[in-house]
Amino acid sequence: MQVARKLCGALAFCLLIFSGDGAKADSAAGKQGAIATVHALASEAGLRAMRRGGNAVDAAVAAGLTLGVVDGFNSGIGGGCFILIRRANGRIVAIDGRETAPATATRDMYLRDGKADPQLSQTGALAVGVPGALAAYEQASRLYGKLPFREIIEAAAKIAEDGFQIDPGYFARLNSVVGDLRRFDSAREIFLTQNGDARPVGDWLKQADLAKTYRAIGEQGVDWFYRGAFARDNETWMRSHGGLFTASDFAKYSAKSREPIRTTYRGCEIIGFPPPSSGGVHVAQILNILEHFDLQSMGASSADFVHVVTEAMKLAFADRAHWLGDPDFVPVPRGLVAKNYAAKLARQVRLARASLVSDHGEPERAQQDVFGKHTTHFSAADADGNWVACTATINTTYGSKVVVPGTGVVLNNEMDDFSAQPGAANFFGLVGAEANAIAPGKRPLSSMSPTIVLKRGKPILSVGAAGGPTIISQTLLTIVYTIDFGMDLESALATARFHHQWKPDELMIEKKIGDEVLRELERRGHKLKIVNSLGAAQAVATDPRGKALVGAHDPRLHGKAAAW
Ligand code: GLY
Repeated sequence: MQVARKLCGALAFCLLIFSGDGAKADSAAGKQGAIATVHALASEAGLRAMRRGGNAVDAAVAAGLTLGVVDGFNSGIGGGCFILIRRANGRIVAIDGRETAPATATRDMYLRDGKADPQLSQTGALAVGVPGALAAYEQASRLYGKLPFREIIEAAAKIAEDGFQIDPGYFARLNSVVGDLRRFDSAREIFLTQNGDARPVGDWLKQADLAKTYRAIGEQGVDWFYRGAFARDNETWMRSHGGLFTASDFAKYSAKSREPIRTTYRGCEIIGFPPPSSGGVHVAQILNILEHFDLQSMGASSADFVHVVTEAMKLAFADRAHWLGDPDFVPVPRGLVAKNYAAKLARQVRLARASLVSDHGEPERAQQDVFGKHTTHFSAADADGNWVACTATINTTYGSKVVVPGTGVVLNNEMDDFSAQPGAANFFGLVGAEANAIAPGKRPLSSMSPTIVLKRGKPILSVGAAGGPTIISQTLLTIVYTIDFGMDLESALATARFHHQWKPDELMIEKKIGDEVLRELERRGHKLKIVNSLGAAQAVATDPRGKALVGAHDPRLHGKAAAW
């Protein structure tokens, strides 16, 4: 039975269609290629790209651009993304399309009377960072795809032009922010009825301006967006609405190639996205800690298992709050993913009792050995051995809610992912310190964790998730369920999830884990926040016999896996 449920509190954005019966994830298998996204039209667009002679990179770019049309409350070219690619030749590429702060941004720009004002960093002109997703998609397509970018974006433009039917999931997300969308004329025109209500379920949503924007990019190239009319129109609107960014901020933007994070876990190689993602660092760090425990003998949904993983999460998130930021601006210690540091942290975990983690740890050579410099996840793979994990976002539902007139592009509110003030929580309840303070041109810290797992050098899993900081926990658990417990992809995505981010001191956990386990966790001192549904992860894996590629979407929402 499918039931729409609203998660409250810090995860209010994460309205999902929840399958509460513990069913396995929906999957599709094929020998030529597989893809999984949160929307049927996006998965089909990816599959079509592969059938037309494209590879997994083309499929991912097609899916990403289509999601910007049909799932625009989560991601789009007004936002950012991280793309992790394992190429057929075995090389790994990490493309950072994270937004940047405008040149005139200042550390204290969201303080009013000495206190951070979340309204300013979450809604309206001041909340917007310079978008990076388009630069990243185009770079991935140009350097690693086979199809012309113009062809891929034209297919997505056609979907924007023809429209699609609003389903209950889309409506729920739209309706949850209807009050804020009313404040912005262009957003109101596209997404609301004449009365200012959310367009209802069954309505056909056409986005003519977005189609026009996609076509202009297709015909004139991404320079039209970053150095042409789009950038100029954005500057004009921002100037008259209190925003900071200018055409020159757009012109300075470039997607960056980064060195991926590599660690090993029980004989597999885990490849994650480096800072400004915190995801790669902390998925690796938590796995390194967990290697010191025999999780298999504990059992996947046991109190011992949840307890140990939670304790590791707390230690990692305490480090996240202190150490993590844009590596082009602050030193992020490589020692965070060192095995010896994990061994030290593992010794702090007590089986009998939840610990009080009062502060961050201190990896070796923390100052010297540093990294060089709402949301959606999709994964794709092809028979040649190209694998993609891409997580994209405009941050919270419909981002800043701003659509600059005539563009159809929903702009992000990624500035809220900076730490507006040391200790002040952002939308997700995350706290940060100096490392993630605002600075001109800096990229806000992210939790997006696109990850690829290799075994004996061959890719076996591409995974990632949506849901702010819970992305790290969902990605981690999918890897652990797969490697430690040998679950197939469908079960790994369906098994109960939990998340602890150090502050607040609260273990968010899915109810389906069972009363007995919940009671035991409480007895050990965990403060529980029991939820019906946690997150949205998509993945592609090889089937256990290695004969086919399997795509699977999270059973907690309506997604689509497709293969051929
Ligand atoms: N905007 C959520 C994240 O990047 O973590």
